[in-house]
Amino acid sequence: MCGIIGYIGKDNSVERLVEGLRALEYRGYDSAGVAFFGESGELIRVKAAGRLANMEEKLKSVSGTSSSHCGIGHTRWATHGAPSDANSHPHGTAALQLVHNGIIENYAGIREELTALGYVFESDTDTEAAAKLLDWYRRTDDSLTAIARLTKRLCGSYAFGIVFAGEPDRIYAVRKDSPLIIGVGDGENFIASDITAILSRTRRYCQLDEGEIAVVKSDGITILKDGVRVEKEIKTALWDTEAAERGGFPHFMLKEIHEEPDAIKKTLGPRISGGLPDFSGEKLDAKALTEASRLHIVACGTAMHAGLIARELFNRLARIPVEVWTASEFRYCDPLVGKGDIVTIISQSGETADSLAALRLAKSKGAKTLAVVNVVGSSIAREADSVLYTLAGPEIAVASTKAYTVQTSLLALLAVDCGLRRGILSEADARALTNELSCRAPEAVGEVISRAEELKLLAGRIKDSEDLFFIGRGIDCALASEGSLKLKEISYIHSEAYAAGELKHGTISLIVPGTPVIALCTVPELVGKMVSNIREVKARGAEVIAIASDIIAEADATLTLPQIDPRLAFLPAAAALQLLAYHTSVSRGCDVDKPRNLAKSVTVE
Ligand code: AGP
Repeated sequence: MCGIIGYIGKDNSVERLVEGLRALEYRGYDSAGVAFFGESGELIRVKAAGRLANMEEKLKSVSGTSSSHCGIGHTRWATHGAPSDANSHPHGTAALQLVHNGIIENYAGIREELTALGYVFESDTDTEAAAKLLDWYRRTDDSLTAIARLTKRLCGSYAFGIVFAGEPDRIYAVRKDSPLIIGVGDGENFIASDITAILSRTRRYCQLDEGEIAVVKSDGITILKDGVRVEKEIKTALWDTEAAERGGFPHFMLKEIHEEPDAIKKTLGPRISGGLPDFSGEKLDAKALTEASRLHIVACGTAMHAGLIARELFNRLARIPVEVWTASEFRYCDPLVGKGDIVTIISQSGETADSLAALRLAKSKGAKTLAVVNVVGSSIAREADSVLYTLAGPEIAVASTKAYTVQTSLLALLAVDCGLRRGILSEADARALTNELSCRAPEAVGEVISRAEELKLLAGRIKDSEDLFFIGRGIDCALASEGSLKLKEISYIHSEAYAAGELKHGTISLIVPGTPVIALCTVPELVGKMVSNIREVKARGAEVIAIASDIIAEADATLTLPQIDPRLAFLPAAAALQLLAYHTSVSRGCDVDKPRNLAKSVTVE
């Protein structure tokens, strides 16, 4: 997603902007740019398509970079217009420069109006229309009034960083739907899309809320809502730079997989007392959850796959039916949810546009909303009626791993809580499952992580495949979806996740000699059926790798899982699938942490 940074202070602003943009690279981008005040207060803009280094190369031939103390910067993830120098941000005029994260939906009409007024456009972007509309308003109004007028005219989502010529002592910031924080330093202040961009300089920040306009100077920050000053709580980021750095691992993804045992303990620990689930400390209506006739889970990608796991767990442990929706479908199908329904939004970033829109739709229909989110203070967390934070720490790699693990383990604990309250689980069973989740599961995941060599060998068997199948039954079918996505998104090998019993209804026609099939067999009562499916595909020449608690003789290889309550075996199995994808990606020389075309947080639809 696009990244925004702004700096004002005693230091060289260009250096601080580049430093911030480098910290934002993980969000995924295709171009970068900065705008800053030169020696005589004029606005200078430098931008380039491609990696950040391309912009830095251009900066070398620009004078005034060393004496600037105020500026804005941007990494762009293209939504309107291909990656190019012209489409890179900032956009503006001699009077102002602006950087943007989000989508302006009514930009075409605005562009036509401004063209009729004599404006000439140099890019294909929606952002440039906003920048030039602001220029038009600024001709007759002061900066704050012009920005306020702009926000009333625009439809869509935005986080803007803005600098005006003639005002070299301040940066303006405003947001709607796209996140923006104000960093509070010592004699210097920042704006940023997220805390990672400024952690090397400060851990103190405040969140800009919908419609608030910030005026950021080196010696103070003013935040206005409808022209009235608002006071904001200054928070301290718990994640220091070290936490967000790789910590010696070759990739963020591997570091984050290794963090999974601790992340499970950190996430579950505060929700357990006396050996049983205890959500009383949370802003959560556990009673409503327990009494719900059904639950809705809405999310995207891996988070949605966590929802598929939760559906199996709530069904099995609490006998509560769960409907799982892809957020981009939920928001446009006029879903039958309303008063009395509970809609749970799962999101690592808490900023995914489709998931945020689904949350707002569910609320507008009268449903109660629960957010399961990893980023504290994110939009989804702040707008949901209640929130359960996963405490996984920063997840930087685009491929989500530890977030999935803590989402599924937290939802498992919640399902145990509901099962106990509903009398589906005895206290003894609830206690045993709670102990397995909080103690055995982290150990089992750790044991899988320690078997890197074995996983590398298995990766070696699939790394040259063109097509690959993940098959499973019950909760393993849900797990297969995640295993398939992980492999596809970071190794670029095409794969399909399939209910094993469905193969004979069509897709077995795709099995040819050598087709790899990953067979998930963690459900004891279904292993026999899985063996039949393994035989089916073996008869067509498939190469089968089983992931199971015990050796599957019919498979060509088995990754045996550590012993754990079978109802929770999905956790070590997930770690195995994540590591299989990781080692396959590495062996293919792919960009593990920043896969092509992908972004960490998809804040546009
Ligand atoms: C997962 O590996 C992907 N990067 C992607 O599917 C991700 O899970 C999805 O975009 C949802 O993100 P969120 O959890 O931040 O809402």
